Amino acid sequence: MSKLPTRLRRNPILRELVQETQLSINDLVQPIFVTYSDKKTEILSMPGQYHVPLNIVEKEIEQLVNSGINAIILFGIPEKKDEVGLDTINDNGIIQRAVRRIKQYFPDLLIITDVCFCQYTSHGHCGILDERGLINRKKSLEYLQKQVVSHAQAGADVVAPSCMIDEMVKYIREALDNNEYEDIGILSYAVKYASTFYGPFRDAAYSTPKHGDRQSYQLYPGNIQEALKEAKIDENEGADIIMVKPALPYLDVIHQVKSIVQCPVAAYQVSGEYAMIKAASEKGWIDEGKCILETLTGIKRAGANFIITYFAMNAVQLIKENME
Ligand code: PBG
Repeated sequence: MSKLPTRLRRNPILRELVQETQLSINDLVQPIFVTYSDKKTEILSMPGQYHVPLNIVEKEIEQLVNSGINAIILFGIPEKKDEVGLDTINDNGIIQRAVRRIKQYFPDLLIITDVCFCQYTSHGHCGILDERGLINRKKSLEYLQKQVVSHAQAGADVVAPSCMIDEMVKYIREALDNNEYEDIGILSYAVKYASTFYGPFRDAAYSTPKHGDRQSYQLYPGNIQEALKEAKIDENEGADIIMVKPALPYLDVIHQVKSIVQCPVAAYQVSGEYAMIKAASEKGWIDEGKCILETLTGIKRAGANFIITYFAMNAVQLIKENME
């Protein structure tokens, strides 16, 4: 008997029949940056991504919805920053306004809000600091609770804390439950590495820390036991979905996290992953479309139930073309 694996690869129909991982339009979430500026401007480090003015945000969303995207994650760029990031808890903050406005036009679109402080604080750290310049956990948790309630009140469907503060999920769940938002889900950035791949995002969100870095709260790239510990803790605290971020350098982490939690696992293909593919394809060194589909399929194969990616719109187009 000859075992010839290529038998199943000879014919395109046969290849599709035995395909193990199929990327679908429903697997993708598009990040959106909302600003107070009155002009839509391209983000230099992320070609094809924009700062979208709040007062015309529905136009941008319309394109997404028409293309078949069902879910977005919102990031806000506030007008003013301060020590505690007051905009995050203001019912008329940039995120709260954006959520209300988008829901008015597209009530069925799923809106996830990023919950953090770094875009909103003058120091650029992901929490509120004490006199020594370190994260004041208790105070940050208190403000986080106010932030999520305010997002939920505006109409967010899911809140996504990304600040890596211990017990953030526990405190957020408690605040939502105590304010009659039991049905609002928590997508926890449970496993967030201290990654250089966030560089383009920090340019886009003006959120580079003014002093120090994020190594005291984000994970060291070489550690996986710690990642599994974080995932377990957050699931036990009540996270509905666990996220691993970035995606491509951490496929093994996605895979292992998936095997130890019962809840769905998300992956975030971050700004640097996007920028790399964009830059190489602009130079003609790789095929952009194929690279997008290959990386997203790989992330899904590793175990992600869905993927947050700046390529969501492109990928939807590519998936549709492949189906024709
Ligand atoms: C906010 C946040 C960041 C990203 C998502 N939420 C930045 C960071 O941790 O520095 C990065 C997303 C990306 O790079 O695409 N804390």
